[in-house]
Amino acid sequence: MKILVTGGTGFIGSHTCVKLLEAGHQVVIIDNLINSKKEIVAKIEILGKKSMEFYEGDIRDVNRLEEIFTHHNIDAVIHFAGLKSVGESVSMPLEYYDNNVNGTIQLLKVMKKFKCKKIVFSSSATVYGMNDNVPFEEDDPLSTTNPYGATKKMIEEIMQDLYVGDQDFAIALLRYFNPIGAHPSGLIGESPNGIPNNLLPYIAKVASGELEELSVFGDDYDTIDGTGVRDYIHIQDLAEGHIAALNYVQAQSGIEAFNLGTGEGYSVLQVIHAFEKASDQIVKYKVVPRRSGDIGSCYASTQKSKNILHWEAKLDLPTMCLDAWNYVQNGKKVNK
Ligand code: NAD
Ligand code: WQD
Repeated sequence: MKILVTGGTGFIGSHTCVKLLEAGHQVVIIDNLINSKKEIVAKIEILGKKSMEFYEGDIRDVNRLEEIFTHHNIDAVIHFAGLKSVGESVSMPLEYYDNNVNGTIQLLKVMKKFKCKKIVFSSSATVYGMNDNVPFEEDDPLSTTNPYGATKKMIEEIMQDLYVGDQDFAIALLRYFNPIGAHPSGLIGESPNGIPNNLLPYIAKVASGELEELSVFGDDYDTIDGTGVRDYIHIQDLAEGHIAALNYVQAQSGIEAFNLGTGEGYSVLQVIHAFEKASDQIVKYKVVPRRSGDIGSCYASTQKSKNILHWEAKLDLPTMCLDAWNYVQNGKKVNK
């Protein structure tokens, strides 16, 4: 199939593009490079052993999208493009609604115009909001606590309405839990700009000596050791989940949400210790008060994805930490 991948040079998009090329698909990327670099294109091609088409552009630019759909017979879209920082979304809500919600509406309009009606969308476990009733199931009630989460919930609702109006659409809403790790080659991975917000990139920078120490946000949750528990999933498993979702939308119309997680939760302290073991470095940390908006535990029920997508995560936490560390070390070599 010929797949348009929005946000294809980003963290999750790049790993998914490699899997798409390996699976024999033709790939066309649109990315405005607001949070990624053009060099990633060549790296994806090396790893996927195939070339692809890259369009620098914004999904809100209808002319650019129409140019792509005119030149390529796109069979399906995997839609990653979006802004993803929870904290930033609180201070820049209009940018988040415009980029994520308006961007998606423009994309869907162009898809409808060109009769391309298969889409796999990057939603997030953030749509389960402050619900603490783990494991989360796809039909649990949804809520949000910040503009970023609100954009994901709104887009899910827009897509539900789109399907009601046009039942030829085939839509998979993928609710990712906490993607970490990197491609085992160390060639692509996660490189957040500035000081990371998320746990794993922060730990990696402490282990490599770039940052002094990690602040552990709270040790008084009702969890194994009091620190927050999350469902960390290897980026390679997550990328595979997209191939399964693509097969799903290829086979039938409809709209379904799927959790992409491992179903297992690990605490912040467990992740720190796993990373120390993988990197053979000390990760210095101090406990500070809880971060506002955080919940104690968040992990997935994986039953629906196993049953319907025939997909499940295979890689464990030590492998996630090893691959994340390998990517950091490889980056150091390249930048020397
Ligand atoms: P990322 O920032 O690495 O990738 C997103 C890509 O989209 C970037 O390359 C960016 O340049 C591009 N982009 C942003 N706005 C665009 C626009 N208007 N037009 C064209 N390109 C645009 O993020 P990621 O971690 O790869 O996340 C991909 C998707 O998955 C996002 O929608 C994100 O909200 C969602 N998600 C991510 C996580 C996570 O923890 N990484 C968890 C749940 C959901
Ligand atoms: C994980 C755990 C923190 C940093 C976020 C988004 C979510 C999704 C994934 C996009 C928590 C603790 C963290 C630190 C810490 N993204 N922590 N010190 O909050 O589960 O999810 O990313 O959709 O929407 O909200 O991930 O990596 O920030 O935190 O103690 O410096 O690590 O409290 O328990 P989170 P995270």
